Amino acid sequence: MICPGRQVIVDLGCGPGAVTQLILEHVSGSEPQPRVIGVDPSPSAIAKARAAISSRLAEFMEGSAELLSRLVPPADAVVFLNAIHLVQDKQQVLGEIRQNVEARGLLGFNSRSSRAPTSRGRAGSGGVGSCARCRRSERRGSTSGTTATPRR
Ligand SMILES: C[S@@+](CC[C@H](N)C(=O)[O-])C[C@H]1O[C@@H](n2cnc3c(N)ncnc32)[C@H](O)[C@@H]1O
Repeated sequence: MICPGRQVIVDLGCGPGAVTQLILEHVSGSEPQPRVIGVDPSPSAIAKARAAISSRLAEFMEGSAELLSRLVPPADAVVFLNAIHLVQDKQQVLGEIRQNVEARGLLGFNSRSSRAPTSRGRAGSGGVGSCARCRRSERRGSTSGTTATPRR
């Protein structure tokens, strides 16, 4: 889901930036260059991410998923990895993400659940799916996870 051509990619619950770094490696050299925005409510995690990552594509901000649409511009892709289980009101947060994701954008998330991803992982009324380019790369085995395209 981190394809060339994405303009704004949000790493929600970015922690100290390990996933942000992977995203940056993935988009390295792509044109136009995207903004990669890490968001996390923990000031210490944000400080670590800022210290660890010096890419000029990356920016970090303190904030929580509950307020996402007030924090970041509309995004093409939101990843929320290893963190959604920490959110109290998942329905509210998925609605918030849905507001923030562009019409053709994607949400990718996982959780600690031991169950395999199913359609129960949908964001609001969104359907599970990915863009053609991502599906090709998934077939090559370079991407995994659940993606949801918010529908309006
Ligand atoms: C296990 S870490 C995952 C960090 C990173 N995504 C990764 O996979 O390496 C979970 C992160 O979720 C953040 N978090 C907790 N509640 C959150 C919320 N309501 N909105 C966004 N992030 C949250 C925590 O501060 C923590 O940094």
